[in-house]
Amino acid sequence: MKMHKLAARVDDISPFQVMVVLERAKWLATQGEDVIHLEVGEPDFVAVDSVGDAGVKAIKDGKTGYTSATGLPELKQAISDDYASRYQVNVSPERIIVTPGASGALLLMASLMVDAGDDVVMPDPCYPCNRHFLIQAGAKAKLIETEASNGFEIDLKVLSDHWGVNTSGLWLASPSNPTGAVLSKAYLTEAWERVQSLGGHLLVDEIYQGLVYEGENFSALSIHDDIFVINSFSKYFAMTGWRLGWLVVPEWAIEGATKLAQNLFISAPSVSQYAAVSAFGPEVLAECEMRRQTLNARRLVLLDGLEKIGLPVVAPAHGAFYVYVDVSAVTNDAMEWCLALLESEKVALTPGADFGVKNAHKYVRFAYTCDGSRLQEALGRIARFMAA
Ligand SMILES: Cc1ncc(COP(=O)(O)O)c(C=O)c1O
Repeated sequence: MKMHKLAARVDDISPFQVMVVLERAKWLATQGEDVIHLEVGEPDFVAVDSVGDAGVKAIKDGKTGYTSATGLPELKQAISDDYASRYQVNVSPERIIVTPGASGALLLMASLMVDAGDDVVMPDPCYPCNRHFLIQAGAKAKLIETEASNGFEIDLKVLSDHWGVNTSGLWLASPSNPTGAVLSKAYLTEAWERVQSLGGHLLVDEIYQGLVYEGENFSALSIHDDIFVINSFSKYFAMTGWRLGWLVVPEWAIEGATKLAQNLFISAPSVSQYAAVSAFGPEVLAECEMRRQTLNARRLVLLDGLEKIGLPVVAPAHGAFYVYVDVSAVTNDAMEWCLALLESEKVALTPGADFGVKNAHKYVRFAYTCDGSRLQEALGRIARFMAA
């Protein structure tokens, strides 16, 4: 009899809890229920028309083969020019490694900078796949508890207490998924200085860059060339399914990153790359700016409405399209609460357990990826659910 045995690391990787919510929400919708989806972490917009058209043209022109492993030169140049014009930072195209989504960039980063047996410090809560990419590299995440009252930031004064002999770096995200928190330049500068003195690397995931409503909109690359930065076309440019992102590496890591990119991906999707070259044009950026304003209006509706129904958001949610809400006043099991809310009021949220460990059972994430009137409707339903 043949034995089927998966690699041991598979056991260490947790599935997304939100899938249970999503599957149930989909089933309810097939039964004719009017489900409001606030659980999905992707914009309810699609690529701007001219970007989509450039993709179609690439297909018609047969530009569908592999590209160079680190990306189309014209795309790398366009990204580099955009850093100069929108963020006043000089990033040479050679330092930009185009990847299949920010996911590809995270996988590349884990392979490039983390040895088996290492750990990487990151805040609890944070993007769940980070720790899974580390497991893939034989390493692990060291999650540091954070508090809403402190903006979900790791207290840098005690960073060295968490730093062990096998700690290789600190991974942060700004704006953050799931909290929407935006890190200040002063905070990231201090993080960089402390990480340097501890002999580690600093990665800043800037996938929600551009989706900042209050505070500074800058790139960590303006602090130091040795900081690693991740970005993507998924969120600001609303191109999730095009699977295109990038990793910016220091000069000294270009050769190693190139070797890994060749082997891991051969190349990022070519059609997406040809499309993305046109993403930094003025009309596209103007459309993205309008969308940012739409998202901000929704954010304000949600923050105000949550306060009114007795679920105030403590930490500033100044970016991305998420708010992370403490529901411990009404439940001690956020997952159970999400499922009960879905069943009785048909509002789908993501339980905190997908993002962290320590206080995860107290939190739910709202994604404001539907319009203001639907958000108002959702708030009304949640209020009714809490009053029942
Ligand atoms: C913080 C963060 N990083 C990385 C990703 C991966 O994004 P993608 O691979 O679509 O670019 C996501 C997706 O939600 C995210 O929230």
